[in-house]
Amino acid sequence: MEFSHRVKQISESITLKLNAKATQMAADGKKVYNLTAGQLPFRPMSEFVELIRSESDFLKSFQYSPVAGYPELRKKVMDNFQESRKVNLSSQGEFDALVCNGGKHAIINVMQTLIDEGDEVVIFSPYWVSYPEMIKFCGGKEVLVESSPFNVFVPSLEELEKKITDKTKLVIVNSPNNPTGTHYNDEWMKGFAALMMKYPHVNILSDEIYYELYYYDPKPTYFYQHEPELLKRTIVIEGISKTLASTGLRIGFIIAPKVLTTELNKLQGQTTSGANSLVQRALCQFEFSKIPMFLEPIKKHLRENAETLGDALSNNKLSHVWYQPTSAFYYFIDFSGAPVMERFKAEFGEEGDHSVQICEELLEKHGLAMVPGVAFGTANTARLSLVSEKAEFKEAVNLLIKFLLD
Ligand SMILES: Cc1ncc(COP(=O)(O)O)c(C=O)c1O
Repeated sequence: MEFSHRVKQISESITLKLNAKATQMAADGKKVYNLTAGQLPFRPMSEFVELIRSESDFLKSFQYSPVAGYPELRKKVMDNFQESRKVNLSSQGEFDALVCNGGKHAIINVMQTLIDEGDEVVIFSPYWVSYPEMIKFCGGKEVLVESSPFNVFVPSLEELEKKITDKTKLVIVNSPNNPTGTHYNDEWMKGFAALMMKYPHVNILSDEIYYELYYYDPKPTYFYQHEPELLKRTIVIEGISKTLASTGLRIGFIIAPKVLTTELNKLQGQTTSGANSLVQRALCQFEFSKIPMFLEPIKKHLRENAETLGDALSNNKLSHVWYQPTSAFYYFIDFSGAPVMERFKAEFGEEGDHSVQICEELLEKHGLAMVPGVAFGTANTARLSLVSEKAEFKEAVNLLIKFLLD
């Protein structure tokens, strides 16, 4: 069978191999600290679960929803967006929301609707694993702006400007960020807004899937709050996967100008149809304003685990590996400044990325599963998740520190 050139370009998830190994080790009775999680290990709010239960009594919950999603839910998503971000969409023209099968589906829908062969899409590294693969799949070309722990993973606006060309179709901003667990500050957003005002042919995809999950003030702010006109070429991605601890329910949202959602509606109508009716109907009844209350203890948990890690790194004079995480539920370890790096350089070479070898050793020798930085486009780093139970997380941190000092 001959496969399409589009699908042949996509690389397989690097995490799969390590995850399979971690699962096998656990099945063999070995102690494994799995820090690869991309989801909260908590049950969603009982009110929400109850609504799903009660909506399951209705026939409609099992039938097709409107392609774009239930109008009541779309209105709710738009109202919630305007209220939480303090913006007025109608002052900038006509907008709509589209309900998709998760945030990932929302993003590929947008890319398939906007990107033509050869179009350039700017992403900041370390980036969320799927952006480059999706861009390639759509025939676009990824253009990287790199950031590092030295500037707390804040991409330079000067570097960004250098990468903008006539072919730039889209810039992707992901704040709060996966994999770094930080959000860009308001000053950066202001500068980014001013820069985007200079390039009216560039659209912006603002991936705000972790919006509510900040555990250090100030809360995330956005460029369009400084220049509301930018909303006319901004596509916001939201969803319930992260903030309602519901990754498996597959609901994501797009908030965008109506001219775009009309096209997205066409695409979705011919490909996947409307998203999960049962969950959409439950969300129509659900009060979104309750989400921050649900997240309060979870944020406390993330903050405490982040502190455990930060304290351990600085107590062991590894503070060059440390920065202050503020949001989402990840931390991005930079091995390049740690003593252990010398050993890997001696074995595998001075230059290049050894993140896969590092993560393999962490798993095989210490039972610590982390996602190698190669998946996020940043050499000699790895992503760990802050969601684990506290005592377990402490043990994992102790093992990590020993390894870094080795
Ligand atoms: C930055 C980012 N965007 C989008 C998504 C996709 O979310 P969903 O699970 O709703 O498809 C994720 C999930 O990990 C993510 O980390």
